[in-house]
Amino acid sequence: MAKEKNIYTCSACGGTSSRWLGKCPHCDAWNTLIESLAPSEAPAKNRFAGLAKTADVVILADIEASDVERNPTGNEELDRVLGGGIVQGGVVLIGGDPGIGKSTLLLQALDALQRAGQKTLYVTGEESGAQVALRARRLGLEHSQVRVQAEIQLEKILATLQVQQPDVAVIDSIQTVYSEQLTSAPGSVAQVRECAAHLTRAAKASGVAIVLVGHVTKDGSLAGPRVLEHMVDTVLYFEGDTHSSFRLVRAIKNRFGAVNEIGVFAMTEKGLRGVSNPSAIFLSQHAEPVPGSCVMVTLEGTRPMLVEIQALVDSGGPSPRRLSVGLDRDRLAMLLAVLHRHAGVSCMDQDVFVNAVGGVRISEPAADLAVLLAVTSSLRGKPLPKGFVAFGEVGLAGEVRPAPRGQERLKEAAKLGFSLAIVPKANAPRKPIEGMTIHAVERVEQALELARGLD
Ligand code: TYD
Ligand code: MG
Repeated sequence: MAKEKNIYTCSACGGTSSRWLGKCPHCDAWNTLIESLAPSEAPAKNRFAGLAKTADVVILADIEASDVERNPTGNEELDRVLGGGIVQGGVVLIGGDPGIGKSTLLLQALDALQRAGQKTLYVTGEESGAQVALRARRLGLEHSQVRVQAEIQLEKILATLQVQQPDVAVIDSIQTVYSEQLTSAPGSVAQVRECAAHLTRAAKASGVAIVLVGHVTKDGSLAGPRVLEHMVDTVLYFEGDTHSSFRLVRAIKNRFGAVNEIGVFAMTEKGLRGVSNPSAIFLSQHAEPVPGSCVMVTLEGTRPMLVEIQALVDSGGPSPRRLSVGLDRDRLAMLLAVLHRHAGVSCMDQDVFVNAVGGVRISEPAADLAVLLAVTSSLRGKPLPKGFVAFGEVGLAGEVRPAPRGQERLKEAAKLGFSLAIVPKANAPRKPIEGMTIHAVERVEQALELARGLD
């Protein structure tokens, strides 16, 4: 069969060209043309032939609802982010920096699934079979029955899926897979998108669950950018600090579970181990309270976690810096403006650095109050009292807004021995929480005033 001629579509204006050009001939944008398969030039009369097999139209109420079938991997933390386990016919994209532990985690998960009676397949494009075997040995899985295929050509992988009919297949990584039908290099946007689309279709058609491993580019997004996220059912990202032994896996999107759910792992000599009670690892161990530190309770998935927010305010040069690690920098600038305007505390000629301890990334605004308390504590050189926590969103008008599920957060803090809290008024519990003194505030200046008087 003669190969069809591919077309190049502009990602900016949607215009097409029959060959690759640096500049789009329609909208003059540079580097926007992406290769894709030419639409099949079937005769027009056959255009609706496929419709003969169209699925029936049924009334919603008549459809029997069935829950998706999940296969737990046996790894509690991974199951938590997946929403209970791997779903039949589901496609999971797992992204992260090189060397963070993607291959390790998936090999462990596949072996556990295989031992639980599932048929598994590990397609490796980055490493040879021997390298995978070496890793397996290191993980203590030398007798693993997981099937391994070292292959990067899409058509062959699809054929293997059809012949082997596994229950779960891992493609490590999607950036190494290429389709013969495209001339672009493996790893290019066109290849990644086309291959992921084919694999997704195969998953839906045959019921095999597919896990795609994706590399993250320097700017933090998966190469082959957002397109993949729309195609798949679940997107998981590894986050955290490669230098620490802890690894976080966060669900960014999940059709079968809660988003923002976090799984916490520790990288050990024998692979990744789930950390079932992670609260304590995001707190640094100070013997005595130090200035510029405030503990908050974050709850982005279903599990509350205590995280220490650190701030350092130091005299800066003519253009002072605002830097944040694990927190949003624009939000920090906004909070400093609120601090100035509503509480009369100025950091105008000061450098301000804030950091969420342990490499955790906090995107919820409930961190606001803790950030401001840490900043003012550093500015004054005065620590917050021992056993103190705070959370709450701060608005532009200086109001302190409630965080979702305040009770749960407070209970978690109390469980870990925290005894003093400043929380938004609407989060104040009706019944007292044992061992905890709770101050409720409505305004940011009120919170700062209170914190200053605490000891
Ligand atoms: P890997 O899973 O290869 O990362 P990725 O697939 O995301 O690129 O992880 C490799 C790192 O993990 C490497 O630096 C070695 C370390 N590691 C351990 O510390 N313990 C282990 O048991 C294994 C297998 C790897
Ligand atoms: Mg790898």
